[in-house]
Amino acid sequence: MYEKEEKLLKHYNKRLNYSSTAGGGALGTLKMSLTTGSLLDLGCGDGRLAKVIPKEMKYLGVDFSSGRIEKARKNHPDRKFICQDAYKFLEGDDGRYDFIACFEFLEHLVTPKRVLTLARARLSNGGVIFGSVPVNRGYFAHLQVFKDEEELKEKLDPDSWVEKNKHFWCKWNV
Ligand SMILES: C[S@@+](CC[C@H](N)C(=O)[O-])C[C@H]1O[C@@H](n2cnc3c(N)ncnc32)[C@H](O)[C@@H]1O
Repeated sequence: MYEKEEKLLKHYNKRLNYSSTAGGGALGTLKMSLTTGSLLDLGCGDGRLAKVIPKEMKYLGVDFSSGRIEKARKNHPDRKFICQDAYKFLEGDDGRYDFIACFEFLEHLVTPKRVLTLARARLSNGGVIFGSVPVNRGYFAHLQVFKDEEELKEKLDPDSWVEKNKHFWCKWNV
C-alpha cells in the first residue's frame, strides 16, 4: 500500500454511510447478468454489491478499512469479507474468480493499473472485471481523476465502457 492511500484510511473508517453505484442499477447499467460463479469485490466498502447478486454466487469482499468491513459483516453475515490492502491481498491470493468488481475504488489508488494487472491474473478463463469510476470528480480522497474518455483509456484502459449518470461504467476481459 502507498502512503497516500494509507493516509485516507482514517477517512474511510469514519465515513461509513457511503452511498455507491454498486447498488440496484449497477448490473443493469453494465448489461451484466450474474447467475452463478465466484465474485471478488475489491474495495468492497460495506458490501452493498453482495445485496444485489444471487445467493448462489460465491462472494468475497476485500477492503482495508476495518470500520467498513465490520459494517459489511454485520449487513451480510452469510458472506465472507477480508480486511486487507487490495495490493497485498492480490499478491498473496491464489484463488480464481469468474468476476472481479471494482466499484468506486480505482480512483482511490496511486497505481490503479497495477491492481488491474494483479486482478486480471486472478480471473478464470473468460472472466470479467467490472465496475465504475466517477467522471471528472476532484475530491481529497480521489487520487485519480478521469476528466474524459482519453484519461480513462490512459489510466485504466478498459475494454469497453459507457458514460452514464456522471460515471464511467467499465469492463475488462481476461
Ligand atoms: C468509495 S468506497 C466504494 C465502496 C464499495 N465498492 C461501494 O461501491 O459501495 C472506496 C473503498 O475503497 C477502499 N480502499 C481504498 N484504498 C484501498 C486499498 N488500497 N485496499 C483496499 N481497499 C481500499 C476504501 O476503504 C473504501 O471502502
